[in-house]
Amino acid sequence: MKIIAANFKTNHTRKSTNIFVNNINTFLEDENISNDVYIFPPATALDNFDIKSNLIVGAQNAYCVKNGSFTGEIGTEQLEEFDIKTILIGHSERRHVLGESQKEIALKYNYYKALGYRIVYCVGEPLEVKQSGLTETLGYIWEQFDGIDLDYDNLVLAYEPVWAIGTGVVAEIEDIRTIHKKIKKKIQKPLLYGGSVKPANLSDILDIPNVDGALIGTASWIEEDFKTMIKISKDK
Ligand code: PGA
Repeated sequence: MKIIAANFKTNHTRKSTNIFVNNINTFLEDENISNDVYIFPPATALDNFDIKSNLIVGAQNAYCVKNGSFTGEIGTEQLEEFDIKTILIGHSERRHVLGESQKEIALKYNYYKALGYRIVYCVGEPLEVKQSGLTETLGYIWEQFDGIDLDYDNLVLAYEPVWAIGTGVVAEIEDIRTIHKKIKKKIQKPLLYGGSVKPANLSDILDIPNVDGALIGTASWIEEDFKTMIKISKDK
């Protein structure tokens, strides 16, 4: 069964997230949908949601600390208040916009691994690397696994080419097929695809071998579209 994940990024408020999460919860129950569905709201919208379905609410980011003096960050004390036990690590915007290094990412990974969190770990190459060829692309992706324990039980991977994120440019089916096959050969973990996934292309993407689900940004922010995509994934 495929995994569908919504990454809200810096979108939605506490109020709109609450409505969204409750509606998706009800939708999953009403439709008897049992695939794993994740929502990663902004930190300010984390809450004690009344979830009765298989919906999982996770954190987009947190620092590798319980609490302390880290202005602007949250730690596990803030996550555990809401029973959050799932976290995104290594997202391209954290790497390339917010400047997280592989060393920092690995530290964060090991911290959350030690606490048993489910980690959705993201990798993906920028456009110039893709343009250099497959060997360079794979070399770049393997480096993003430096310091990452790939035997960790509670690990889900996401391949998200940077050039396809938030750009409307979806990777070609063949590109996705090739990279997913290579990653899957090395690492036998659920592997999501992400990058401009939307209702119109989700079905084709989920049909590619070694694609175990999708991590969706922009198209997941609209409740109806997210529901449509959950429905598409239901029978895959
Ligand atoms: P996008 O984002 O769907 O807007 O391309 C995907 C992601 O960054 O997870």
